[in-house]
Amino acid sequence: MTSPSANITSVLKETRSFPPSAEFVANAHISGMEAYRELWQRSKDDPTGFWAEQAETLTWFEKWHTVLEWNEPHAKWFVGGKLNACYNCVDRHVLAGRGNQAALLFEGEPGDTRVLTYNDLLREVSQFANVLKNQGIQAGDVVTIYMPMIPEAVVAMLACARIGAMHSVVFGGFSAEAVADRNNDAKSKLIITADGGWRRGKVIPLKQNVDLALSKSPTVQTCIVYNRCNTSVEMVAGRDFWWHELAAAASTDCPAEPFDSEHPLFVLYTSGSTGKPKGILHTTAGYLLGASRTHHWVFDLKPTDTYWCTADIGWITGHSYVVYGPLANGATQVIYEGAPNQPREDRFWEIIAKYRVSIFYTAPTAIRAFIKWGDQWPKAHDLSSLRVLGTVGEPINPEAWIWYHTLIGGGRCPIVDTWWQTETGAIMIAPTPGAIATKPGSATMPVPGIHAEIVDRQGNPVGANEGGLLVIKHPWPSMLRTIFGDDARYREQYWSQIPGAYFTADGARRDDDGYIWIMGRVDDVLNVSGHRLSTMEVESALVQHPKVAEAAVVGRPDDLKGEAIACFVTLVSGEQPTEELKKELREHVVKEIGALARPDDIRFAELLPKTRSGKIMRRLLRDIAAGRESKGDTTTLEDFSVMAKLRESDE
Ligand code: PRX
Repeated sequence: MTSPSANITSVLKETRSFPPSAEFVANAHISGMEAYRELWQRSKDDPTGFWAEQAETLTWFEKWHTVLEWNEPHAKWFVGGKLNACYNCVDRHVLAGRGNQAALLFEGEPGDTRVLTYNDLLREVSQFANVLKNQGIQAGDVVTIYMPMIPEAVVAMLACARIGAMHSVVFGGFSAEAVADRNNDAKSKLIITADGGWRRGKVIPLKQNVDLALSKSPTVQTCIVYNRCNTSVEMVAGRDFWWHELAAAASTDCPAEPFDSEHPLFVLYTSGSTGKPKGILHTTAGYLLGASRTHHWVFDLKPTDTYWCTADIGWITGHSYVVYGPLANGATQVIYEGAPNQPREDRFWEIIAKYRVSIFYTAPTAIRAFIKWGDQWPKAHDLSSLRVLGTVGEPINPEAWIWYHTLIGGGRCPIVDTWWQTETGAIMIAPTPGAIATKPGSATMPVPGIHAEIVDRQGNPVGANEGGLLVIKHPWPSMLRTIFGDDARYREQYWSQIPGAYFTADGARRDDDGYIWIMGRVDDVLNVSGHRLSTMEVESALVQHPKVAEAAVVGRPDDLKGEAIACFVTLVSGEQPTEELKKELREHVVKEIGALARPDDIRFAELLPKTRSGKIMRRLLRDIAAGRESKGDTTTLEDFSVMAKLRESDE
């Protein structure tokens, strides 16, 4: 575990504060600091009473009898209740007379557009739910979704929810190997994909990757392919079917079935501190409630808003803030398939102006790229429709925050910096924008219902401005329920580190005003362009290469990506360290995991620095990767000459 105080100084200097305008406060769902404090205090004093009130915002087929059954570390929320997540996201809006309202405003990368109303969504989702049923999919089965950001990706997820099948969405940037690993771990029965998806003017060959993956995924019997790009793909008779052909033969009538509150909704794989990604399991009622209430509070969504979250559905942000949160709240939202710089660096600003987007949610890594591309791009567009801006995924540096605030928000839009995790299911710490004045780089305060604390290793709260570990003290509805197939790991990683609390693995501090500043991971998880990656995952990909004997991977600070991937590699005897081999190793990691894991630096070493007990000294490697002098203790280093040699082996 690294010290959370390492990066504390970078944010200590920040003292600016930006209160919302009087007009924003007057119209906000949570209006003013008093209102926020009252709501939050109510949730602290009586968590179950508070969440029971909130749960009235969902539509239930049968009401629960017990709000929470808590047998640490296992929570059951709204026990006895029955509902359907898809019904809450689609049917109920149609039944309320909002069927003609646009749900999805789709913009493809090549410029093609489609509008799906809630009526359209109901028809498409019901029909595809019947397609799944016709393929033998039943409640409790796992379905993999490996698709581009097109409306059918949303339809596929909701169709699973409608019939109680668990979806396991795999981001389209992951490799065939990664798809196969996830298929096998979840014992997926069916995979939904497309021939390809558009990215920077090229087609990402999704179906080709699926073909490779399925040769190693014995549990998957069926593959449904949506024709997005009209490319030619191989179709295996009896296994592969075209979406449009199956849909044409399926009825559009598929009533939403009631499921228990705790019925599994989905599994989503994310990186932990070992080489094997973990399947985070979320269940129906609590997850949906967390996603929809936080979306309501933090983005202050109104019926007049047009909302756009740029996340891909392959990540938790896409699950909670493209699919379940906004659709449960009946939002009208933009979804965009492609890259922010296709055909030019102003694509996002063009989309905002075209659809009059009023709420925009993106990642700091994207903002840093926009800054690099230049102010002329946003300046060329009318961004006056915007009223709330959000960020997620990594700490935002104050410079990027101020740029976002000024150039994109025109100085008038609150910025909601939202801290949360795949595991938390929903936003945990973020300003409710009509209440909390923002400070650049701080996620500010917990949302109602969340009891965050900063503690030392023993679980004792630390003082103001002292770095510590961020924990959550009381179970919350959208928390993960377990790690799919590995409950022991769930208990060990989240509920055994700090007594009586959920361990986030993030460091944080609270300032004198009670604002929380997230300081980054304290485990071996990297944050590369907002994507979560484990050092161990990259290491195990590297050592699978026949020429590699040993590998150690660490993060190196990077202005654009947040963290870059730095690898130290020793070779098996007789192999020569060449530039060619570096290239080969980079491609090998891409093949094993995906392009998002492509190493930035590879250094060959004769030996890696180890303690006398044989543990790799990552702290030293981090210093070398960052080009820093090692200040820390090196007395346990086994062979001092190793360090000098490593420094010489510059990239
Ligand atoms: O380190 C924190 C960082 O991202 C981690 C969670 O990653 P993931 O499960 O992929 O979810 C990302 C989207 C919710 C956290 O442990 N993180 C996330 N949001 C922030 C953040 N770090 C600082 N500020 C944030 N707003």
